[in-house]
Amino acid sequence: MADDDIGLAAGGSAATAYAEAVTVYLACALEKTTDYSSTVCSWISGGQTMRNTFGRQAIPMVWDYAEPNTFGEASGAFSGGVEWIVRVINHSLETPGHAELASATNHPLPDDSANVLFTDPPYYDAVPYAHLSDFFYVWLRRVLINSHPELFRESTVAKEAEIVVDRPHYLSSSKKDIKFYEQELTKAFAESRRILNPAGIGAVVFASKTTSSWEAILQALSLIHISEPTRPY
Ligand SMILES: C[S@@+](CC[C@H](N)C(=O)[O-])C[C@H]1O[C@@H](n2cnc3c(N)ncnc32)[C@H](O)[C@@H]1O
Repeated sequence: MADDDIGLAAGGSAATAYAEAVTVYLACALEKTTDYSSTVCSWISGGQTMRNTFGRQAIPMVWDYAEPNTFGEASGAFSGGVEWIVRVINHSLETPGHAELASATNHPLPDDSANVLFTDPPYYDAVPYAHLSDFFYVWLRRVLINSHPELFRESTVAKEAEIVVDRPHYLSSSKKDIKFYEQELTKAFAESRRILNPAGIGAVVFASKTTSSWEAILQALSLIHISEPTRPY
């Protein structure tokens, strides 16, 4: 294969970019292995298989852990991770897209450029997404920092711009309370409104059990002047 020494991030499509693309896919398979290789992975006796670290969006407490054979064929093996990634690639190739990292409060798309807005904002204090992402980020960073330096500048996931409510903890200096959540969510919705074509449609996914979180999101939505009233289901 010919090479032009141009990497993926610079729009390359020859040998250097190809090698970087393969590295990205293998890094995703590695993340699957990581998910099955911590001491909070347990054994599902009913299914005779392993439970991964993130069976849900939290780090669980387990009484004892199970350990996979990374080089084998059963659950938790690297080969299984590769199979998953192959399935995702095959599926994604049907409708190619473009992904970019940006804050919802400062989006790169121009005004009125999107026909559909579909968003799934954070659920108040339900999930500390950025903190949980550190579990994967530190491994991804080791593999991908050379090909994607702009995504892995920080040693851990950047947390300042994340729109969540942080529960008080004596080890935390976070000031992310409900006021911060409401303010930033309003900014994000205003930014969405700016991008959305006036004839476009929008859908907001929100799931929460607390009245205060519903109040916060409806308050943020009410401040951006949507032409049709939104209806919670
Ligand atoms: C409810 S989750 C979305 C989950 C996603 N729909 C999925 O299925 O994986 C909310 C996401 O919004 C992200 N988020 C929080 N603040 C953000 C911001 N300022 N800009 C962009 N994303 C943000 C969180 O880190 C989290 O990944």
